[in-house]
Amino acid sequence: MTIRYVNPHNQLPLEQVSDVLRDASGATFSIVRGIPRFCEVDNYTKSFGRQWNRFRTTQIDQEGAIDAPSSRRLFAETNWTKEELAGANVLEVGSGAGRFSRALLEHTEARLYSVDYSTAVEANLKNNQAWSSARLFLSQASIYELPFPDGSFDKVLCLGVLQHTPDFEASVKALVSKAKVGSEIVVDFYEIRGFWTKLHAKYLLRPITRRLSQERLLGLIERNADRLIAASRFLQRIGLGVLRRFLPVADIYGTLPAGLSEDGLREWVVLDTFDMFSPAFDNPQRLKDVAKMFERAGAQVTFCGHVDYGIGSAAVVRAVRLPIAGASGRLEA
Ligand SMILES: C[S@@+](CC[C@H](N)C(=O)[O-])C[C@H]1O[C@@H](n2cnc3c(N)ncnc32)[C@H](O)[C@@H]1O
Repeated sequence: MTIRYVNPHNQLPLEQVSDVLRDASGATFSIVRGIPRFCEVDNYTKSFGRQWNRFRTTQIDQEGAIDAPSSRRLFAETNWTKEELAGANVLEVGSGAGRFSRALLEHTEARLYSVDYSTAVEANLKNNQAWSSARLFLSQASIYELPFPDGSFDKVLCLGVLQHTPDFEASVKALVSKAKVGSEIVVDFYEIRGFWTKLHAKYLLRPITRRLSQERLLGLIERNADRLIAASRFLQRIGLGVLRRFLPVADIYGTLPAGLSEDGLREWVVLDTFDMFSPAFDNPQRLKDVAKMFERAGAQVTFCGHVDYGIGSAAVVRAVRLPIAGASGRLEA
């Protein structure tokens, strides 16, 4: 069964009337360029809208094989199988340009409800148009005001997003609330590994780069990318690779897909460097703290650790939503 949109403010079901969604109270949400919009356009994720529309196809699996980078990461981190996803309703929050949306739509028969707070949804629609309306339902909305009834989804997915939200724990709670009781939520996030995590060009320079206009920042990165890639290679060659963390450029070792051309590598580096320096929020967390957030949100943690996906590894938490203890003390769905 498909899931109907609801008004995120009052939970009333929405019906489509020409190019708006309307609830019984008369509240409306517009559908712009084929995508329902449940939030104000001018929000803190503007840099992501720019990033994903500019680099729309950079990280999309090219050959579509299940062991291509994004597919491999998706299935390694979730451990989901094609069989369990057939006909399942999956919620993806913070889909960006849709690299994981594509992997899921291409390799499974799931119905995907994919949300992003930025105009990246437009890039996702272009990338995954082939599935739109049949199995892909895209909308622009915030994790804090999702346009779906609580307890609706068979699976909930949120990769690379939580550290970029203003309240990590409230975001975890929002994800858990949308899963059915007994259903699984999978997230990955930037991890705090020790005091040295923030001794990194990204965290040292963000107070400055956050003040630059996005055009200026992107221009600076584009103009200096070749020099910084060369510096990175030089440090590696002379055995001082450990100092690469102080270069204001995304790492090129152990993070990029094999076989990229020099131009392809440069494009990934410019994208990843903009992604380091432009977001409004970057709040890494300790694994054990995120596990506790899931428990406080009413989910049982089934996995909390690192997952190697071939060209990198990520801090991952998987959890299952528990029944809620009602006033009687008995467990209720
Ligand atoms: C680093 S990108 C990751 C995109 C995609 N998951 C990927 O890994 O390619 C983070 C995404 O989270 C989205 N995001 C940030 N805050 C959000 C919020 N409150 N609600 C929904 N999406 C949000 C951003 O707009 C951005 O597209």
